[in-house]
Amino acid sequence: MDFRNYQDQLANIQTPCYVYDLNLLNKTLDACKKAADQFGFHVHYALKANVQPTILKAIQSKGFGADCVSGNEVRTAISAGFDQSKVVFAGVGKTDKEINMALAADIFCFNVESLQEIEVINELAKAQNKIAKIALRLNPNVNANTHHYITTGLAENKFGINFWELETVIDLIKNSLNIELIGLHFHVGSQINDLQVFKNLCAKVNEFIAWFDTRQLPLKVLNLGGGLGIDYHHPKENNLVNFQAYFELFHQFVQQKEGQEIHFELGRSLVASSGALLSRVVYIKEGIQTNFAILDAGMTDLLRPALYQAFHKIENLSKQQESISKKYDVVGPICESSDCFGKAVELPITTRGDLMVIYSTGAYGEVMSSNYNLRENANVLFLQ
Ligand code: LLP
Repeated sequence: MDFRNYQDQLANIQTPCYVYDLNLLNKTLDACKKAADQFGFHVHYALKANVQPTILKAIQSKGFGADCVSGNEVRTAISAGFDQSKVVFAGVGKTDKEINMALAADIFCFNVESLQEIEVINELAKAQNKIAKIALRLNPNVNANTHHYITTGLAENKFGINFWELETVIDLIKNSLNIELIGLHFHVGSQINDLQVFKNLCAKVNEFIAWFDTRQLPLKVLNLGGGLGIDYHHPKENNLVNFQAYFELFHQFVQQKEGQEIHFELGRSLVASSGALLSRVVYIKEGIQTNFAILDAGMTDLLRPALYQAFHKIENLSKQQESISKKYDVVGPICESSDCFGKAVELPITTRGDLMVIYSTGAYGEVMSSNYNLRENANVLFLQ
């Protein structure tokens, strides 16, 4: 996202403001679709990353499916135009109300995460006189080498069914007349830039395929989750993910059987680079050890740095010609010391009123905002 092309639209912007670059979004979606289509792969967009209606519309119109983790996400996806036959519903704690809603909507598949959940879905499907299609979320015990809060595929994580439970699960499914097992689901974590992690996942997936094969249990669908990372450090130079390399790896290493479909659930890699958070400097405070640039955006608008110590590149858009620089802790106004977007950030001499940009906030930015301290939601602007 390069703001030099949008000076006019930014002149009077009310901050804090999430801005979305629809051209870059469409370019990203096209690149993903093109790479996936080559191998006949199906991609579901993980709504949890961003639910702006304009963004959902763009994604849906390109033919992506939807990956949802709550009843409201299922409802939102369907009303945004996603075909219900392309909606998957995941999550460790689906409530009866959410399951009933998804059953009534005839979604493609429930990604189930426990023995008990299978029993409940079977019961609720029976009451609605439906057959629920399910994929078993298996815990492959693969280390995603990412922040421990967004690692999901280790034995110690709460997600998925463990290998040692599989025989019991299969017996249960055989006796559950309102359940149809259509496949397997895996997701090992998020913001993964090392493709070796996905290669390790493929090896585990192949072991599971073989396990089901020897028991003559057909698997129509392999859902390999999401997790592909982006380059937070070079948001302008490197704003398009290498989808080709990602899908090619799965094509090369998964021992896909005849007639078996491969699905993915991508969130971050589809939307992160197309969003940025704009904010103005409210005050500059000169400290003894450091200087503070205090912004009108805070952790209520963008939680990632406070929650995961996540890096987002920050620039001063008002002082792009300035040659002398200084180090600032770029912080928000919230009464928490974790309300900090970046420590010792090298910036041109920055003054009150300057327009600052925090890049790569299109995924897990706006959706994770809160009204703590009774703060208002950030504004939203779409750049065309
Ligand atoms: N599928 C499942 C089952 C997931 O749990 C997730 C993300 C995805 C797909 C999409 O993953 P992605 O392609 O976006 O990496 N709030 C955190 C990220 C949490 C991700 C949770 N699960 C962050 O700001 O980094």
